Amino acid sequence: MAKLGEIFPDFEAATSEGPIKFHQWIGDKWAILFSHPADFTPVCTTELGRAARLVPEFEKRNCKLIALSCDSVDSHLGWITDIKATASVDKFPYPIIADEKRELAVKFGMLDPDEVDKAGLPLTARCVFIVGPDKKLKLSILYPATTGRNFDEIIRVLDSLQLTATKKVATPADWKAGGDCMVLPSVKAEDIPALFPKGVTIKEVPSGKQYLRYTPQPE
Ligand code: BEZ
Repeated sequence: MAKLGEIFPDFEAATSEGPIKFHQWIGDKWAILFSHPADFTPVCTTELGRAARLVPEFEKRNCKLIALSCDSVDSHLGWITDIKATASVDKFPYPIIADEKRELAVKFGMLDPDEVDKAGLPLTARCVFIVGPDKKLKLSILYPATTGRNFDEIIRVLDSLQLTATKKVATPADWKAGGDCMVLPSVKAEDIPALFPKGVTIKEVPSGKQYLRYTPQPE
C-alpha cells in the first residue's frame, strides 16, 4: 500500500490505449488513478462516464486520469462503448488499466473482502490515488465497491492539494476553490504581512489562543 508523501511505485500495465509505464505516463502532470470492481457493472459505468465528462475540468488543472479494472483490454474496449453511450461522449478520453490477474489491486491494497465476484474472489474497491508531478502520493481515498464516488469532491480535493502545495495555507471544512483558507499553524505571526498581503483575520476563541487565522485564498 502506497503511503502519503512517498513515491507512488512505478509499474507497467496493459491499458485500453496500449501499454504504459506509470511514471512516464504521468510526465510532469498530476495524475488520478481510480480503481473499479469490474467491467460492465452499473455503478462503475456511471463513475467512468462522469469522469469522462469532467476531463476538461481535470485538464484545466493539469491532471490526467487513469482507471483500473480487473478485466482484459478487450473487455475494457467493449465496456467503453457502453460508457460512451450512457455518458453521451463521442470519445473516451482516458485509459483503463487491464489488471486481469489482480496484481496491481493486491500490490496497492485495493481489494474489498466484503464484495466477492462469482468465483468468490474479492473485488477491487473504489480507490482514488492522487499522485503529484513529483510522483509522490498526495491523497488516497478508499470506498467500498457498493458506494460510488463523488467526482465534485475529487475536483475539490485536487484544488486544495494544488493550492496547499505552494501556499502556506490549509483548507477548512467544506472549503471550495475561491473560499477563505486557514494560515498554517507553522507560520509565525511576524511573517504574516509578507506572506498574506490580502490580510489575515484572527477569530477569538475562549482559550485565547490565536490559531484560527483566516485569509482570502492566495493567488
Ligand atoms: C457496481 O459497479 O455497480 C458494483 C460492482 C461491484 C459490487 C457492487 C456494485
